[in-house]
Amino acid sequence: MTTTPDTRPENRVLIFDTTLRDGEQSPGATMTHAEKLEIAELLDEMGVDIIEAGFPIASEGDFKAVSEIARQSKQATICGLARANYKDIDRCWEAVKQARSPRIHTFIGTSPLHRAIPNLSQDEMAQRIHDTVTHARNLCDNVQWSPMDATRTEWDYLARVVEIAIKAGATTINIPDTVGYTAPVESADLIRRLIAEVPGADEIIFATHCHNDLGMATANSLAAVEGGARQIECTINGLGERAGNTALEEVVMALKVRHDIMPWDTGVDTRRIMNISRRVATVSGFPVQFNKAIVGKNAFAHESGIHQDGMLKNAETFEIMRPEDVGLAGTSLPLGKHSGRAALRAKLKELGHEMAENQLNDTFVRFKELADRKKEVYDDDLIALVRQNEAVSDRVRLKSLKVICGTEGPQHAEMTLTIDDEEKSVDATGDGPVDATFNAIKALFPHEARLQLYQVAAVTEGTDAQATVSVRLEEDGRIATGQSADTDTVVASAKAYINAVNRLLVRREKTAPNADVKGVGYMDAGE
Ligand code: KIV
Ligand code: ZN
Repeated sequence: MTTTPDTRPENRVLIFDTTLRDGEQSPGATMTHAEKLEIAELLDEMGVDIIEAGFPIASEGDFKAVSEIARQSKQATICGLARANYKDIDRCWEAVKQARSPRIHTFIGTSPLHRAIPNLSQDEMAQRIHDTVTHARNLCDNVQWSPMDATRTEWDYLARVVEIAIKAGATTINIPDTVGYTAPVESADLIRRLIAEVPGADEIIFATHCHNDLGMATANSLAAVEGGARQIECTINGLGERAGNTALEEVVMALKVRHDIMPWDTGVDTRRIMNISRRVATVSGFPVQFNKAIVGKNAFAHESGIHQDGMLKNAETFEIMRPEDVGLAGTSLPLGKHSGRAALRAKLKELGHEMAENQLNDTFVRFKELADRKKEVYDDDLIALVRQNEAVSDRVRLKSLKVICGTEGPQHAEMTLTIDDEEKSVDATGDGPVDATFNAIKALFPHEARLQLYQVAAVTEGTDAQATVSVRLEEDGRIATGQSADTDTVVASAKAYINAVNRLLVRREKTAPNADVKGVGYMDAGE
């Protein structure tokens, strides 16, 4: 069988988004089925070329999500991940085959450290690569192969296995910097050398997949393109294992803003960046750091007098791109309690949250409640309000909470929860109002999860500001994060904890069978 040469123009770089696979592997970043479908739809609409929708063998949930995304995709190629064995590859094909354009992505760790785990010799691994890529290519015309930990693989062996994979029918060869170890100059050289020296390399597409352990992922990805790669693998907000992956918004905007020195185009509609960034932050439970490039809250904020003065005279003095280019409104006017539904709808749209009528009605009621309590409702208050409405699962819900606190302890929390549609109440005590509140949740919904993180941040300024609370729970190695916002910090804490519990319940269901698959057992499945 022959490979399919790429006929796209030389200056086109394909964007391969792996938010739903590599991104979802971040501890705690579990998404529900409906959330995955929604993110895939947003990626498809924004013009991403390839969506890696999941790891079909990993769980029944992953399989269903990849299959349904494959059926719903309108433009993007839908890809699934598979280890180097027939069972994984067959399962992957089952999931992606209904896509308009399916792709199988199969991988194996080729560096000495990774070869040692399955204890394969170089020759045995080379044979396995030949057999599994051939098997994948017999099923699907579009096959991507990755030598995991490529940047720590001996050059001779890497060149040898890349050649084998190309001959076996791989149409894309991805070169992962799995541990974020490489530097830009090496990243460019490696791809350049593979293209120059491996027979058949000019027939296929080289991809770059960089992790951010040294903060160089985006720079390494762009350098790889300089070296000849024509596919960048990335995630929204840079979500991913450990320090994350190359951020989609960073590479796409860098190519747009510095087209003078990096003359490559992508098909991504950059005006959709902010909306998808916010959705991914919400559904993954991973808030975006304030100073994150492109999508951080402060990326287009100007605080100091000198900067504000410059901005008022000419925005280009301190901005290298326009906020509108990433889907932000240029200016913002705070809303108040006299604002109506139309003003709220317009403001939410400006902030990248288009809502259906029912959702808007719900948000409007909460907005009015907030506006009654607060003088001005800022953009960030609204964003927090929208996030708070987007609960992952409704098995456990807060009905009411009354806390008694002060200098005379112990503090009391009288709480009613609705658990699986049944109301339960308790009066719990604790060392402080938050401790009492969390004890009440534990009494009403007993669980073994350990509180790993509890963080409070003010959304805006003033004593009437909303507090955003993040909670991270751990149970048998499963991690779930929850977030909520309220002008009452203790209420926000209760809701964030309950949000994390609900995510944990989703995670419990998801990781029941094949729980090891996303961990170290990446070579174990039988053929
Ligand atoms: O980082 C990595 O090596 C991966 C592979 C599965 C491509 O995610
Ligand atoms: Zn990765």
